Amino acid sequence: MRKIKIFDTTLRDGEQSPGCTMNLAEKLEIAAELDKLGVDIIEAGFAMCSDDDFNAIKEISKVVENAKLASLARCNKKDIDRAYEALAGAKHPMLHTFIAASDIHLKYKLEMTREQVLETIKESVSYAKTKFEFIEFSAEDASRSDREFLAQVYSTAIENGATTINVPDTVGYTTPIEMSELIKYLKDNVKGIENVDISVHCHDDLGLGTANSLSAILSGAAQVECTINGIGERAGNASLEEIVMGIKTRKDFYNAYTDINTKRIYKVSKLLSTISGMAVAPNKAIVGANAFAHEAGIHQHGVLKERSTYEIMNVEDIGIPQNKMVLGKHSGKHAFKDRIESLGYDIDDKSLEDKFIEFKALADKKKIVTDSDIEALLIGSNDSENPTYTLNGFVVNDGNSISSLATVSIMDNVNNIVEGIGKGNGPIDAAFGAIDSITSNKAKLINYSINAITEGEDALGEVIVKLASDDKTVIGRAVSTDIIEASLRAYVNGLNKL
Ligand code: KIV
Ligand code: ZN
Repeated sequence: MRKIKIFDTTLRDGEQSPGCTMNLAEKLEIAAELDKLGVDIIEAGFAMCSDDDFNAIKEISKVVENAKLASLARCNKKDIDRAYEALAGAKHPMLHTFIAASDIHLKYKLEMTREQVLETIKESVSYAKTKFEFIEFSAEDASRSDREFLAQVYSTAIENGATTINVPDTVGYTTPIEMSELIKYLKDNVKGIENVDISVHCHDDLGLGTANSLSAILSGAAQVECTINGIGERAGNASLEEIVMGIKTRKDFYNAYTDINTKRIYKVSKLLSTISGMAVAPNKAIVGANAFAHEAGIHQHGVLKERSTYEIMNVEDIGIPQNKMVLGKHSGKHAFKDRIESLGYDIDDKSLEDKFIEFKALADKKKIVTDSDIEALLIGSNDSENPTYTLNGFVVNDGNSISSLATVSIMDNVNNIVEGIGKGNGPIDAAFGAIDSITSNKAKLINYSINAITEGEDALGEVIVKLASDDKTVIGRAVSTDIIEASLRAYVNGLNKL
């Protein structure tokens, strides 16, 4: 069986999703999870693009142990130098450099001739080789490029030191058969291709990102680029979980494997949707809430008798909590810690103390605490050690024939308690108004969502708010059995991040 390398670009192409910007702490958390997941390469950002990206790559370099760590760079010395600087502390640094190859991009974007593009590749890849052992070269918009020119482009990159050549379907235009034929053509026409890895990078504009990637594997691609939950520019990138589970479930067909620890897939998917505020559609393959739900009676009957009648994957292989064990208010810290570890989370002593207090409070409200409840507590609000504001208490008066009134008290980071009053159109509007009166908040609430994330009448409600202020957008999140409390804590969490 052939090994297929997984190049994860959640933190670079994924972060380019509209409204999906992550802060440094969030990127570090995702990077550490990707490393544990077993991806071969993590693309941590585009060093030259912004100081935030540069710093994130630098900090991520310190925590990633196993995977190669890549920065994107255009084909020029300044970009390559900046990527080199950002990756200075990485254990296994890698450069990912790119230039467009299609005539449309050459004419309208680069305003360059084909000869100039070839010369630029020669100069920049040979320069990069003086700094990097591993260089991936991408010909942007490869799938819409002239094939003969594309073969020249990749031959030049390999001749000057590229160790991987990446074939992007930048605008999600190609089809599985065309992708397969393109890989075959390149194998026959690119000089030195037998000495490098062939990679593909497919976007999902026509919903074919995963299919195109898998088709390329059949023709000899050794690497796929993808993102968790398929996030990315426009309709997104090919989704990691679909490609990995596709290869695993149909290994008889692909005759291939990956090094991904699939039991960690659900956890990283959940972490990303929580951090980014981008919910996973219930019918999303592999990680959607309905991916293993059987509604039809005939299906339920079949699955109860023999799982394989209607299930092609084992839900436990993806690490989806099965709520087999329940804890209650009499459970001790050891049992709580045990459960946390068996769900795949590491927890230090300080966080265990904090989370145990939250667990006890939850167990007092609910009779039983399930795996999903524990997971919701663990992902939590991601507030910093010493948050600027903490919710201290609230009273909301609400009815259908009067304006809602809220009194909220907030504690600041030097333990002053301040009360504010708000009047509004409904309890949340009034309560947020009360917080604004205390914090002089000018940020705009641009999105608010509420979901029951565990089962039953006493389910935990998760509130996600998106706040925008000047050029910054942040996500605030909180969970509680009380939806007004969850809303207030999510709002405060967002303000703390701003
Ligand atoms: O979609 C694309 O072409 C890219 C390249 C930079 C690989 O993201
Ligand atoms: Zn892309």
